Amino acid sequence: MTRPAIHPRAHDAAIDDALRAAIHDDRLYEVAETLLAAAGRLHPDDALLVDAARRACLRIGEQSLALAHSVADGLRDASIPCAVEVAESRALQYHLCTLSLAGDDPTGAVDWLKSAGFWCPASTDTLHWESFRLRNSELTMCRLDDASSCLRLRWQASRKAGRALALRYPLKALRSLLRRVRQRPPPAIDTVSLGELRGTPRALMPALFEFAALRPEDVVVDIGCGDGRVLIEAARRVGCRGIGIEAQAGLCAVARERISEAGLGDRIQIRHDDSRGFDGSEATVIFLFVPVRALSILVPEMLPKLAPSGRIIAHEQVALGEVVAPDRSAPLIGDCALTVAHLWR
Ligand SMILES: C[S@@+](CC[C@H](N)C(=O)[O-])C[C@H]1O[C@@H](n2cnc3c(N)ncnc32)[C@H](O)[C@@H]1O
Repeated sequence: MTRPAIHPRAHDAAIDDALRAAIHDDRLYEVAETLLAAAGRLHPDDALLVDAARRACLRIGEQSLALAHSVADGLRDASIPCAVEVAESRALQYHLCTLSLAGDDPTGAVDWLKSAGFWCPASTDTLHWESFRLRNSELTMCRLDDASSCLRLRWQASRKAGRALALRYPLKALRSLLRRVRQRPPPAIDTVSLGELRGTPRALMPALFEFAALRPEDVVVDIGCGDGRVLIEAARRVGCRGIGIEAQAGLCAVARERISEAGLGDRIQIRHDDSRGFDGSEATVIFLFVPVRALSILVPEMLPKLAPSGRIIAHEQVALGEVVAPDRSAPLIGDCALTVAHLWR
């Protein structure tokens, strides 16, 4: 028997701590198996929670592998040879699969993946893209689906990136690019990177909202809102209003389209802006799914600006390190998604 999203915490706080530490060490499956071996000593509710964590890892692994094979089939049908890289363990903590491409040019595969719903921040017909793909040998793309599945593409590194670029592009084009880069004014504000698009899995949202005690009168601000999924679900499930701040124009367009499809245009606003353009004043709840280094900057900046009932909610799968200690943390285990949630008041 599994529970859809387990919340708020285990019967025994030590189990919560063990699961949280296991998630942070990327050893959840292993630790869950060890705890279950001693199931006789666990409270029955905690045994269920630990078993749900173990099953979630297995399901995430199965789904990731199935996705890898279906994408690989699609690419091969499009005459793009590739192979699925199989993870060492069949259990995973997040939806991620890896495909290795034959050859050193991932452009066709990336275009195919874009048409299959994976998000790629770059356009593949520019000199910037050429430069990127010649200087790198992998790229992770995230699909805008409920699970937020990620796919890592690997290709053979080009050892002579500079020469390959020069052969493909006339010197004039390279000089003009260089001129444009040099002339570009420095950013007006000191930006903080909130990372690339990784959507919060939809299955975790009810537990996250409950954890943050969201109420209809709340105004949730998602800083780095991606495709707007968190705000849409919060408005649908709880009835609160939302503001999304997103640096990428393409994602703002996707978010606005989804909001309009959901008939929530009067409740959610998307702003194409940098996180630094937001002063915190309108929020009763700030939602953050960003790398820990960004949390360590944003949490202390935003906390003093919050109203007395205001709170910050974040989730992640890596330890918080230097980030101001949260008031509450808890592992959230869903059917095929998991995370550690944190709340600051
Ligand atoms: C990890 S995703 C989180 C998406 C969304 N909050 C969710 O939970 O589904 C981080 C998002 O932040 C955006 N981003 C990165 N740096 C940013 C910045 N400086 N200002 C605003 N948005 C930014 C990215 O484009 C990406 O969509």
